[in-house]
Amino acid sequence: MEFDLTGEHSRYAYKLLAGLVTPRPIAWVTTADEDGKVNAAPFSFFNVFGSRPPVLAFAPGDKEPGIPKDTARNIRRTGEFVVNLVDEACAEAMNQTAAVLDFGVSEIEMAGLHTTPSTRVKPPRISEAPVALECREWSTLEIGRNRMVIGLIDRIHTRDGVLDPGTLLVNPDQFAPIGRMEVPSGYCRTEDRFKMPRPE
Ligand SMILES: Cc1cc2nc3c(=O)[nH]c(=O)nc-3n(C[C@H](O)[C@H](O)[C@H](O)COP(=O)(O)O)c2cc1C
Repeated sequence: MEFDLTGEHSRYAYKLLAGLVTPRPIAWVTTADEDGKVNAAPFSFFNVFGSRPPVLAFAPGDKEPGIPKDTARNIRRTGEFVVNLVDEACAEAMNQTAAVLDFGVSEIEMAGLHTTPSTRVKPPRISEAPVALECREWSTLEIGRNRMVIGLIDRIHTRDGVLDPGTLLVNPDQFAPIGRMEVPSGYCRTEDRFKMPRPE
């Protein structure tokens, strides 16, 4: 099958891309508004893009043309955010934080989550998350109704056990991130891993 995303099939772009470009990691982003109220929401249009400097990006679509989601709005105003990573134990709570809530209702409380103060940025990290990346906004690109938030990573926090303290390699028994698969509700586990040495 072939699809013309510039023309007749453009209305299928989200379904096709979100279903085919998988598995995707999930950025579970905490931000704070000017009054310090904490917001949490998941974004699977997300990845890291380099280490010198350490850079990541994720993409909140606009609610309506020109109207950003709360996450993007808070970052535009404060320039700070935390990307928490999601493992199986956090999956259900992560999903709950994608709900659209009335103004003033906290996703963190609603999902039964807790927060821990960050070291370098105002938004806290999610205590239940196995890994958290404290970030500062580098730039936000506006591409049609997509915003691409590009951030530099200032601090990494990992739960004890996630990394081997000697080698700093991930301990696969202690870190099981989930991946986003087909829309609207597909996910994958990452416990079935294999190794493939690179050719010389
Ligand atoms: C697993 C998962 C991944 C998601 N990925 C995205 C994404 O990449 N971009 C996006 O705009 N919305 C995404 N969403 C929907 C947002 O989480 C949802 O719109 C949320 O209410 C936004 O919250 P906010 O307005 O507080 O920023 C995703 C939802 C789930 C459950």
